[in-house]
Amino acid sequence: MHRRVTRLIDEQARWARPLGEWNQRWVSAVFERTRPLKDVLNGVWLGHPVHPAVTDVPVGALTAGIVLDAAGFERAADLAIATGVAGMLASAATGAADAVDGYGRPQVQATVHASIMAGSLVACLASLGLRASSRRGLRPLAVALSLAGYAGVAAGAYVGGELTYGSGNMVDRHAWDAGGSRWRALDVDEVPEGTLVRAMAGSTPLVLYREGDAIRALDAICAHAGGPLDEGAVEDGCIRCPWHGSRFLLADGRVMRGPAVYDQPAWEVRQAEGRLEARRMPAPAD
Ligand code: FES
Repeated sequence: MHRRVTRLIDEQARWARPLGEWNQRWVSAVFERTRPLKDVLNGVWLGHPVHPAVTDVPVGALTAGIVLDAAGFERAADLAIATGVAGMLASAATGAADAVDGYGRPQVQATVHASIMAGSLVACLASLGLRASSRRGLRPLAVALSLAGYAGVAAGAYVGGELTYGSGNMVDRHAWDAGGSRWRALDVDEVPEGTLVRAMAGSTPLVLYREGDAIRALDAICAHAGGPLDEGAVEDGCIRCPWHGSRFLLADGRVMRGPAVYDQPAWEVRQAEGRLEARRMPAPAD
């Protein structure tokens, strides 16, 4: 099943690439003017993507609506479908904020996911309109439309799951880091003032930056999508990722601006016997 669906998307959904690129252009332009809103929708304030949490609302509400329709509780079913539609709109906004930074395969999957969900939203809105009508004869069509919308949501959720679990969209790039408090020798001896320096601590790439006597160090791979922080820039005590502009506090790796929602692992650096050593710092406290 999984292989069949991913092959279907990879080989058949050729329409999704140009549509995804077009969507990315206008959604980026909107978020460019409303940057703080994008951070809220991404979940920077929560320390976790908001989209997966919000999507539980339409799935749960539409499920309840279907069951209540079957049981003959018409008013309660109508209310549940209306709640589902509201949840779908909130899911669309949070999903757009997450998907707009994707390229290549994740962008195609996100476009297929969003297109299916848009179709479901239209079906559920039409169902709501018919439910509001006083003509009793339209009730079966209204129920059928919400069932079609529900089926679409289930299919769209499958593609959304593939986007997260199969392609790693919005997954913390450091989720599997072991951490540890051992000092490790770095392969550089000097960090000149005003320059980002890439260094290896064993097999872990770090980016170093001198602030007066202190040398700040963060993991060089961006928690959002793996961008090279050593190719970024330093602004207001933060390092800015060159790929999508996330900002992390140099002092402790705290995420200050999205789309990253996870903190960047920070390292403490010391001079020992003429060489530089680094060890992982604990995660920043709230
Ligand atoms: S990779 Fe996206 S902000 Fe760094």
